[in-house]
Amino acid sequence: MDDSSKKAASAADRESKKPKTASSDSSESFVAYMNDPAEQAGGAESQQEENLTTSAKAVDRWFRERRTLQGAPRLLEVPNEALVSNGGPLQITGNIALIGEDGSVRYANHLTLCRCGASKSKPDCDEQHLECEFLHSGKITEVSELKASQRACRITISCIKDGPITFSGSLRLHNRYDQECVKLRGSLCRCGHSANKPFCDGSHERVGFRTQSG
Ligand code: FES
Repeated sequence: MDDSSKKAASAADRESKKPKTASSDSSESFVAYMNDPAEQAGGAESQQEENLTTSAKAVDRWFRERRTLQGAPRLLEVPNEALVSNGGPLQITGNIALIGEDGSVRYANHLTLCRCGASKSKPDCDEQHLECEFLHSGKITEVSELKASQRACRITISCIKDGPITFSGSLRLHNRYDQECVKLRGSLCRCGHSANKPFCDGSHERVGFRTQSG
């Protein structure tokens, strides 16, 4: 071995004998951190917390974008219910998408829908039931298809031209007599002439009901 080779070998030997610090070898300190059970547990927890936060933010962002783009409201934790009032409209609460006769969509958590047939703002009630002295007591004669539930879900209500409103999605109809009827789909009278109110019995055809004036 010549002189220069000897010098290089002894420098390498001295270097290998130096004590190593965390800052001098980051890969070694990372391995030590990974192998420390206490650190690992803490790391996993904080990672989980970060993931949850990120996920909640993503869901929130998704709802905000959806509301902005489509006007869809956040799902409320309430069941869909329709109060059949005495001599008045249907008061519907829940997570509602109302499809108009023209295909337009309106999202709502509360609707007051005409069932006397006289409103000039169909499907909404405009208090014409007072003028035409709509007399239905609000009694419900049909029986439930299923048990009432507090589970939140969406309901779609469609306005049929010259006919009833139909619904698809769990709906609990109830009245001031504590009668209730829970159905997953059905047709509700809005001409005011059904003999089976609040449900449609086809009488709208017999009376020539028109949903658009003129
Ligand atoms: S809408 Fe009234 S009977 Fe059909």
